[in-house]
Amino acid sequence: MDREMNKKKELLKIAREIEKCALCRKWGTGEPVPGEGNPEAKIVFVGEAPGRQEARTGRPFVGRSGKLLRATILEAGLSDEEVYITSPVKYLPLRGTPSRENILHAKTHLLRQLSVISPEVIVLLGSVACFALLERKVEMTKERGSIVREKDATYFLTYHPAYALRFPAGKQAFRSDFIELARLISGR
Ligand code: URA
Repeated sequence: MDREMNKKKELLKIAREIEKCALCRKWGTGEPVPGEGNPEAKIVFVGEAPGRQEARTGRPFVGRSGKLLRATILEAGLSDEEVYITSPVKYLPLRGTPSRENILHAKTHLLRQLSVISPEVIVLLGSVACFALLERKVEMTKERGSIVREKDATYFLTYHPAYALRFPAGKQAFRSDFIELARLISGR
């Protein structure tokens, strides 16, 4: 319990830093969206950047993409207890998609969150998450469903739920990737 409380405190501290971060604010607008979930999560989902609904509420993945993400998590038999949901970019980008500069800065907050949580698997939802954490361009149609072990972490690659919403084949692949993901987690 102590360990969980410490992690919770550390994550709160990082959230306060995100709130005060002048650089993040320079590229973004609305409420900060640091992320939410279990501080001891075995799985962390990493998206792209908050959208309008997220910037209004300060919560990650609460819009249309978020509904699909959260429903697919449950459908795969995973629970809220096991997961933490966040993005490399912590504010709604002023110009739609986040710039490279914005991602490279904002990911420093994400890296600290990941080192506190220390999950078994980090799920990279789409190419921005891959760029932030694998530092390379990923063609998701080729690499989705794959596991990458790098820098003492295990990454699982899949589509961003916004892509899955746009393309029926993408949605099917997204859902089957989540079933595979659930199998990866220890103790099941
Ligand atoms: N898309 C993201 O990548 N993150 C959110 O929080 C919402 C939509």
